[in-house]
Amino acid sequence: MEDEMRVAVVGQGYVGVTGAVSLARQGHQVYGIEYAPGRLRSLVDGRAPVTEPGLQQELTLAMETGRLRFTDRIGDTHRRQPFDIVLITVGTPPNEDGSADLSQVHAVLGEVAALLPAPYVVLKSTVPPGTSEALLAAYPHIRQHYAYNPEFLNQGSALDDWTSPSRIVAGVGSAAVAPVLRELYGAPACPWVVTTPTSAEMAKYTSNTFLALKISFSNEIARLCTTSQVNVDDVMRAAGCDPRIGHAFLQPGLGFGDSCLPKDTAALQRWAAGRGIATPLLDAVIAINRGQPQLILDTLQAELGGDLSSSEVAVLGARYEPWSDDMRAAPSHAVIPLLLSATAGVRVWEPAMKAEQIEEVFHGVRACPDVRTALRGARAAVVLTEWPELIEADWAALATELRAPAVLVDGKNCLPPERMACLPLAYRSTGNRLTAPADSSAVRPTPSP
Ligand SMILES: NC(=O)c1ccc[n+]([C@@H]2O[C@H](COP(=O)([O-])OP(=O)(O)OC[C@H]3O[C@@H](n4cnc5c(N)ncnc54)[C@H](O)[C@@H]3O)[C@@H](O)[C@H]2O)c1
Repeated sequence: MEDEMRVAVVGQGYVGVTGAVSLARQGHQVYGIEYAPGRLRSLVDGRAPVTEPGLQQELTLAMETGRLRFTDRIGDTHRRQPFDIVLITVGTPPNEDGSADLSQVHAVLGEVAALLPAPYVVLKSTVPPGTSEALLAAYPHIRQHYAYNPEFLNQGSALDDWTSPSRIVAGVGSAAVAPVLRELYGAPACPWVVTTPTSAEMAKYTSNTFLALKISFSNEIARLCTTSQVNVDDVMRAAGCDPRIGHAFLQPGLGFGDSCLPKDTAALQRWAAGRGIATPLLDAVIAINRGQPQLILDTLQAELGGDLSSSEVAVLGARYEPWSDDMRAAPSHAVIPLLLSATAGVRVWEPAMKAEQIEEVFHGVRACPDVRTALRGARAAVVLTEWPELIEADWAALATELRAPAVLVDGKNCLPPERMACLPLAYRSTGNRLTAPADSSAVRPTPSP
């Protein structure tokens, strides 16, 4: 095992708490620094403040070893016993115009740059190219100890991604910092890209915008499949088998709506616009994504004869992903208001939220305790989250709850199409998923990726 280091991780959101727990598990002495009182209290009491598979158990174990503690006082803790290294994992949320709000980063950097003796400073938050150089111009004395080291973890597999990253990108202020990062991370078996801070910042945006591009591209192809006898699932499976393309993120549906891709694509677009650089491809990626919620409404209107003002619609799921409670840019925030403006009533079933929460977040809807109640008497149902309860449901029984002629719009393309085809309702998805070969029994099905 690598030598033990004394580490502060400033900002205990999805990235910070995952990092703090993982570094403590590696054997470092870790302080999670969090300034939001409610979140800090929860951490000090041993409760994970975000939902992430395995996080609660690992947090409990790490705290029991005494290697993980939480505080809001980085200065006092450093004075008592200095940190070797400070990781900064604070938020960089979008401003109104889409640019990245760097106020949390600026505030922390100011505090960390004043610590004596000077620790290594590693910024992990996603920031636009040039941010590190601007910070280093304001605090030149930290350059020798500074790195920009973007984080690539995915919510849902955050702990595994931290422990076994696909690559480590280190944008270093000086050559002395790379060995310190290797010691911190215990040299995981993955490629290292050691570069300048600005290149590392651009590398993070490049990765996220490319993932967003794959999703918007899939949605564009899916629209072509909708209007012809083309099965979009087969098309994507065939294209993804090419290792140059790959299956990941080749998923038509509601578009990207996690906490990173919408904000990072918008921030890069704003960054380029501020420099007078055109981004036609990025603009299209974002425009396609923004149009996906409207497709749900268009489909309902086409199926239910244009006017929805006397129709009740059941929304099934409001989270972007079942395994994450991060709702920051979930498509439900766009789809539900569109439905409310067009239909008689919207009922929402979301098993991870309490009824009061649902009705507070989505003003004007009626929360339902189960799928059956949500469907009862509605003309349409819209699936916004791939909850296992929906995929495995007895749809033959559930379909009878809807008022005929009914429509089921599968916004996540997650329900089994062969079972949906037999139901007494119109099953609609993003792209056509129902077209099958003339003699499908002769074709051995290939498992989906
Ligand atoms: N969430 C992800 O999946 C993910 C993945 C990769 C990269 N990132 C990037 O990592 C960064 C962090 O993301 P997140 O989702 O964890 O953010 P978050 O908003 O969930 O968490 C940030 C935390 O920092 C705390 N904070 C802010 N200023 C502070 C200060 N001065 N002192 C102490 N605590 C402070 C906030 O209270 C909050 O708890 C962002 O830049 C994001 O783009 C996120």
